[in-house]
Amino acid sequence: MTDLISQPAYYDDLGLSFEEAWNLVEAGSTDRHSPAHMPAVGTVDETGAPQLRIMVLRDASRDARTLRFHTDLRSIKAAQVRNNGATSVLFYDMSAKLQIRMSGQTQLLPIGDVADAAWSNSTPFARRCYMAEAAPGLPIAGPSSGLPEWIQGKKPDEAQLADYRQNFSTMLVEIQSVEWLYLANPGHRRARWQWQDAQKSWQGNWLVP
Ligand SMILES: Cc1cc2nc3c(=O)[nH]c(=O)nc-3n(C[C@H](O)[C@H](O)[C@H](O)COP(=O)(O)O)c2cc1C
Repeated sequence: MTDLISQPAYYDDLGLSFEEAWNLVEAGSTDRHSPAHMPAVGTVDETGAPQLRIMVLRDASRDARTLRFHTDLRSIKAAQVRNNGATSVLFYDMSAKLQIRMSGQTQLLPIGDVADAAWSNSTPFARRCYMAEAAPGLPIAGPSSGLPEWIQGKKPDEAQLADYRQNFSTMLVEIQSVEWLYLANPGHRRARWQWQDAQKSWQGNWLVP
């Protein structure tokens, strides 16, 4: 016998599953204890190989269909998305037994109001990462933070940080596909929604889990 009574309301409801996917992801940008706060972000390198890394989710909007991340404009991932914007973002909520995969196209937005506000609202310690003298990912002679000697272990002030604003960028992923997997004893549930540009709406389907 299946035990549908104890399943969440979204179990057999495609619309509610879609809402729950975005509920979880949006919570990831506002609650640092949320399981969706640090998703794995996948881009594609120049050979076509997938490249994954953990990033902090800074903003998520179901209405705008966007996820926002922050990164160093000199980073390897920034070069990858300049060359090929294809991006996949993977979330897993262990207690809810939900995997959500969002895919779309990334734009680097290093200048403008959003990037300026994101920079000013970050803590001085968070912004200190952007003070690295050479581009992240370059080989170095020995173990090092890559930061200038004079700022190691110190909190930079606004004047010291100003010179490094140029290394900071927001990364905006425009979501075109949302995939959902809910693990449940009576039977798993899987679904996918594709954004339809012409209709300006999401088209969703259940899938075989
Ligand atoms: C918990 C955690 C959070 C991270 N958050 C970010 C982030 O928000 N932005 C970022 O560029 N890198 C972040 N990183 C570092 C990346 O995972 C990655 O190592 C780095 O950005 C270099 O990636 P790339 O060479 O593909 O550009 C984070 C790493 C960890 C472990």
